Amino acid sequence: MSLETHFAENRQRHLDELFEWLRIPSISAKSEHKDDTARAAEWLADRMRDAGLTTVDVIPTAGHPIVVGEWRGAPAGAQTLLVYGHYDVQPPEPLNEWLSEPFEPTVRDGKLYARGSVDDKGQVYLHLKAVEAHLKDGGALPVNVVFVVEGEEEVGSPNLEAFLKENQERLRCDAVLISDTTMFAPGLPSITIGLRGMAYMEVRVQGPSVDLHSGAYGGAVVNPANALAKIIAGLHDEQGRVNIPGFYDRVVELTDEQRKAMGTLPFTEEGLREEVGAPALAGEAGHGALERIWVRPTLDVNGLLSGYTGEGAKTVLPSKAMAKVSMRLVPNQDFKEVERLFTEQVKRLAPAGVTVEVLALHGGQPWYAEPSGPLFAAAETALERAFGQKPVLIREGGSIPIVQAFQETFGAPAVLIGFGLPGENAHAPNEWMLVENFHRGAEAIAMMYDALR
Ligand code: BES
Ligand code: MN
Ligand code: MN
Repeated sequence: MSLETHFAENRQRHLDELFEWLRIPSISAKSEHKDDTARAAEWLADRMRDAGLTTVDVIPTAGHPIVVGEWRGAPAGAQTLLVYGHYDVQPPEPLNEWLSEPFEPTVRDGKLYARGSVDDKGQVYLHLKAVEAHLKDGGALPVNVVFVVEGEEEVGSPNLEAFLKENQERLRCDAVLISDTTMFAPGLPSITIGLRGMAYMEVRVQGPSVDLHSGAYGGAVVNPANALAKIIAGLHDEQGRVNIPGFYDRVVELTDEQRKAMGTLPFTEEGLREEVGAPALAGEAGHGALERIWVRPTLDVNGLLSGYTGEGAKTVLPSKAMAKVSMRLVPNQDFKEVERLFTEQVKRLAPAGVTVEVLALHGGQPWYAEPSGPLFAAAETALERAFGQKPVLIREGGSIPIVQAFQETFGAPAVLIGFGLPGENAHAPNEWMLVENFHRGAEAIAMMYDALR
């Protein structure tokens, strides 16, 4: 049977199986979902066995388990591909903004709505269906494969790097393949050659030892909410640049050639503005929106907590204030160094009269790779066959902190092929994956194996 026929005949089954997986709320950040997360790992391991992988293990860690599945039956001298992805998902909140239940997958308008549909269960599962197509039909793959699917990507992969180092021999590979990114536009297959890194911080400001009546004491005591606002405001300058001494020292500028290549992509700032629904775009002076997202570092408040935020008014001078602040990093910034520079600057910006504590929650290095190697060439060929269009090379603003670690541990290049789409609502309410991309993605990956023959 041809691959095309296999996929045509199994479309419904593939989708039904994915639905089952999406119903398991594997929210890694919440301890109340620890069992669900473990169940999602076991479910995947069972489907790996069904697909014909020969060695499948659910390996416990200090956090959530890692699922490893291998098939190493290719002819001597064949390449080994390591497929990496994650089965954990972000919390679904705010729940009232979902049009259908986050863990009850629903198709509307050709889009599969569910938490984890595109990030990343749908994208992991299409790889397994590609492998299955070869193993079930021909009984073999032209290359060896090893899947490493973790349950802690959305919380910063705290246990993965050590796991890779400890299992370096078992997991040995020639290239790493990841689908956890997006296509540049509908119908336009894309290979991602750069991701931003991350330094995630928490700032805690403490003023008086208890909340105070803001009339009885206000004016004579430093308000930690005011102090935190001042600190945050001080972290950018008038040009929209991050105001941390040394922050830009290692930032690599685009070459003329890279800037020119970016300019050929089908992109308009007005289109982006409409996609995000904001009244206007803004950012670091001297750079276009795509540059700001792909190759410039940023600093964003991700959460704020202080004082009274309930119904109506309450006159209170809060005793503490807290902010979560993340910075997206670009080559050649180093997250450890940025954590230090941030901490020093926050302490400098803090007014007298409060104590400030800065914590580094997690971090990861930025990643960029020149596209090359046999896997990359095979990916280009297969994507063109499956989508009827030559893939474009893109960078993305998001982070997959472990990509750099994979490259360093195995000395193997990583190839990132995303099947998400702009506007997919990853991490937001109503996350979706285009059903067609799930099927076409599986076909593309199966064709890529053929192209490696
Ligand atoms: N799939 C995303 C990474 C991503 C997002 C790539 C957008 C390209 C575009 C991944 O699951 C993710 O959300 N990563 C986190 C990493 C963080 C938790 C360390 C991110 O980017 O915020
Ligand atoms: Mn992801
Ligand atoms: Mn994510």
